[in-house]
Amino acid sequence: MYGNDFGAPEEASGGGLLGEVEAAEAALREAAARQRRGAPASDDDLAGFFAEVVEADQKIEPRDWMPEAYRKTLIRQIAQHAHSEIIGMQPEGNWISRAPSLKRKAILLAKVQDEAGHGLYLYAAAETLGISRDELVDLLLNGRQKYSSIFNYPTLTWADVGAIGWLVDGAAIVNQVPLCRCSYGPYARAMIRICKEESFHQRQGYEILHTLSHGTPEQKAMAQDALDRWWYPSLAMFGPPDGESTHSTQSMAWKIKRFSNDELRQRFVDMCVQQAEILGLTIPDPDLRWNDERQAYDFTQPDYDELMRVISGDGPCNRQRMAHRRQAHADGAWVREAATAYAAKRAAENKEKVAA
Ligand code: 3HC
Repeated sequence: MYGNDFGAPEEASGGGLLGEVEAAEAALREAAARQRRGAPASDDDLAGFFAEVVEADQKIEPRDWMPEAYRKTLIRQIAQHAHSEIIGMQPEGNWISRAPSLKRKAILLAKVQDEAGHGLYLYAAAETLGISRDELVDLLLNGRQKYSSIFNYPTLTWADVGAIGWLVDGAAIVNQVPLCRCSYGPYARAMIRICKEESFHQRQGYEILHTLSHGTPEQKAMAQDALDRWWYPSLAMFGPPDGESTHSTQSMAWKIKRFSNDELRQRFVDMCVQQAEILGLTIPDPDLRWNDERQAYDFTQPDYDELMRVISGDGPCNRQRMAHRRQAHADGAWVREAATAYAAKRAAENKEKVAA
């Protein structure tokens, strides 16, 4: 959570994360201003040049040679991320018509629209790797690409909208701030803007829970119930434990990922403990306690078998989420056709103008 709207100390509230985004943005500008070593001397030097650019914390750009596996990993990760933003609109969209006030409704509407925007930035970043948005959407609809496990859980009460903002967007930010320093330029640049917007999302969720947890006993119970249901799925968002993470080692060597799944999960837990205290809510983990030696909290790991079941399509809402997305895609066919026809008409008009 950023800022001090609730009297939360900046450190306790994880305020340093937005500072990290700003530092990453400055580093991106510096990297762009620094003269990157021109180009590889010959085709034999392509891999060496790629390795040097990554090593020097410069950015790989779409025109650069890159290993095929690097391209594929990026397409997988960026597409999965984009799909998550789009599918992630459903659980919260569910509450737009039932938000408890006009103000809450307007805020939630803006937030859900932001998620659509994030999906679009990310599809655009993936397209720079030589795949089209249509192909990516097909891969999602055919079940050949994934989206985040977290969006397969239901939003049962209004407090869930708060818990999604605080915990899900909070976990997303902890995971995504390091991606602002990703070695692939278009992804890193997209992440800067996304993280800034996500910080607002997290604050709005925290503020909902703060209001509920300082309201009537029933409201506080609703907030606690939401925390009880969203805590472990939020921890699972960071992915399997390091020992079972297929891609981490290579992705970290390529500086796509900067921290391992477990490192980020730990960072998230450490950040949440004091935030929960300020809310007056209890994290549902009897074994959560400060470890002086590690200077971090010990905590109970999420159920990774459950994570794998959810990822493979067997979570509480997987079928509903995909059915809804397929229906929305089919319902939007006429919009895509109209936009394509309009673009063709404009292109023909421009051609005529140039010829005249
Ligand atoms: N949900 C679904 N799939 C997951 C997952 C999760 N929470 N965690 C891991 N996986 C999948 C991986 O994609 C990989 O799939 P594969 O075997 O088909 O290739 C497999 O499980 C093994 O995991 P790895 O740890 O090896 O995978 P990664 O190195 O890719 O790490 C990740 C996983 C940390 C999620 C990484 O991909 C990442 O940082 N992605 C970008 C961020 C992202 O996609 N966030 C999703 C949430 S977006 C969001 O929350 C929107 C916001 O508005 C709320």
